[in-house]
Amino acid sequence: MNPLWIDTDMGFDDLASVLAVTGTPGWSVAGLSLVAGNAPLPVVIDNALRSAACFGWSFPIHAGAAGPLVGELETAQAILGGDAMRSAGRSLPPQRTTLSSEDAVGALAAWLRASPTPATILALGPLTNIALLMRRHPELAARIGELMWMGGSAGPGNHTAAAEFNAYVDPESINEVLAAGLPLAMVGLDTCRQVRVDKADADALRALGTDRGMLIGDLLEGYVRIAGADGRSTMALYDPTATAALLAPGSISFTPAHLVAECSGEHTRGMTVVEWRVPRKAQANARIATTADAAAVRAVVLGGLAAVAR
Ligand code: BDR
Ligand code: CA
Repeated sequence: MNPLWIDTDMGFDDLASVLAVTGTPGWSVAGLSLVAGNAPLPVVIDNALRSAACFGWSFPIHAGAAGPLVGELETAQAILGGDAMRSAGRSLPPQRTTLSSEDAVGALAAWLRASPTPATILALGPLTNIALLMRRHPELAARIGELMWMGGSAGPGNHTAAAEFNAYVDPESINEVLAAGLPLAMVGLDTCRQVRVDKADADALRALGTDRGMLIGDLLEGYVRIAGADGRSTMALYDPTATAALLAPGSISFTPAHLVAECSGEHTRGMTVVEWRVPRKAQANARIATTADAAAVRAVVLGGLAAVAR
């Protein structure tokens, strides 16, 4: 079994990522750490606990940072809806499981210490929790084999013209994580946008005829409708594309480069600036995703969702 720690701000594409992991043979979730991002932390916690009850998760769930290292939290609720799930009338059933009493950074540190080999963290939101982990336990950098992150962009942004949402929310955390020497692999917007889902994918999950298939299908359709209210557009698969980089090795291609997050630009705060000309202009400090094998990503993600739904 390959155990993964997932750090998440629990919108629908985060949930789809967790489900893809639990639905893929050979992979398991060791724990979830929650971070404010898509929505304020109480909403993120509520989504995680409702999901745990609905899908029978037994791994621990830990509350983390309620806001970025610097400044005020800006959420994506204007796009994703109040519950950050764009659930169009469908909501996850009420929570029954409880949050762990241990905070995210403490729990993640304990897991890293106990791991027999350098461990993999999948981060699907702002990197606040990971930066706080490095502030409190810098010696644990060596215990992290890879930090796979959905965030940033080597092209344009989405939250602003220059910045992807996860990067925009907490750009200082990106630079702290890099300064700590963590082996960061960035799967940015430009790569995720190569992988598309549409209403037919939601229909296929509903056609399984199970309660979970109906729920995941309805939530997926709400997600697709972010791209167009009539449901006819295709939508980029964000967090699950980064997840597929782990579940289906080779489905995402990476190139070493030097990465820095812009923290002060008036129009460019949160922009992830990639210097590809390494080592001529700078030393590589990250692996940056460049291309996605869309069929391979879709196969592992939608296959995982279907396995959970059956
Ligand atoms: C990222 O922002 C969030 O809204 C999604 O969950 C994803 O992590 C895409 O920019
Ligand atoms: Ca996310």
